[in-house]
Amino acid sequence: MLNQVKPIEAYFIEDEPYYLSSGREIDIFTQAYRNHLPVLLKGPTGCGKTRFMEYMAWRLKRPLLTVACHDDLTSGDLVGRYLIQENETVWMDGPLARAVKTGGLCYLDEIVEARKDTTVVIHPLTDDRRILPMEKKGEILRADPEFMLILSFNPGYQSIMKDLKPSTRQRFVSLEFDYPEEAGETAIVTREAGVDEETARRLVHLGHMTRNLKEKGLDEGGSTRLLINAGKLIQSGIPPRDACLSAIAYTLSDDVEMQRSMDEMISSLF
Ligand SMILES: Nc1ncnc2c1ncn2[C@@H]1O[C@H](COP(=O)(O)OP(=O)(O)OP(=O)(O)O)[C@@H](O)[C@H]1O
Ligand SMILES: [Mg+2]
Repeated sequence: MLNQVKPIEAYFIEDEPYYLSSGREIDIFTQAYRNHLPVLLKGPTGCGKTRFMEYMAWRLKRPLLTVACHDDLTSGDLVGRYLIQENETVWMDGPLARAVKTGGLCYLDEIVEARKDTTVVIHPLTDDRRILPMEKKGEILRADPEFMLILSFNPGYQSIMKDLKPSTRQRFVSLEFDYPEEAGETAIVTREAGVDEETARRLVHLGHMTRNLKEKGLDEGGSTRLLINAGKLIQSGIPPRDACLSAIAYTLSDDVEMQRSMDEMISSLF
């Protein structure tokens, strides 16, 4: 399967993704792109960072190459590697190299999860040089003028934050994301889950209540994504309380007390 490479055309987004803006992020991102500045997207899980990237890729008409980072991710996964194919050694570009060559947007999702050698690779791409050293191949790639690097991370996971060195970090323009304000989030849940506005309003209210539990023992409050998931179950005929318990309460916590508190919140709303 490794040798099946999707053509770059497959990475263009044809239909406009639904994205509700909540500030200046579209303008700032567009100007960062025009000025060849890399961008850092910060924000909690499920708040719209990926959707924003899809929207911007569509708007700028550039291919979007997303890499979900994890703790085994190496520079080879990004840059490329030699593979054996039918007894021959062939070089296979990684997603970062492809984006550099084709003028794509390379989105490294949860970069701080990746191993340190990956940040070493992106370093020379983030300043005026805009080059990608391909050590294993003994080549240096100069980035296409349209190439852009975007990183995301969730600042809630403080312990791994220190992995992003200040010297890397200070090359980026940063955009802070958070859950949309009430009216916006209600509109998003209505549209994405297909529920009526009143149901969406209650789900958003529940979302706020769980977010208030964050200081009281819950790691993360319910994200926009979870509210949409609950809405989808409701829309499919699951009674609202069961939908919210499964999509929100049990997903957020394994602690019986915490689940009970959330059940009370759910019952007060539905
Ligand atoms: N501003 C928004 N406009 C439209 N949809 C949104 C917006 N914010 C969130 N959503 C909805 O919430 C879902 C989750 O958002 P998304 O996947 O972009 O989160 P994320 O910030 O990338 O999360 P993670 O950090 O877990 O990857 C999206 O699929 C979309 O349905
Ligand atoms: Mg995402």
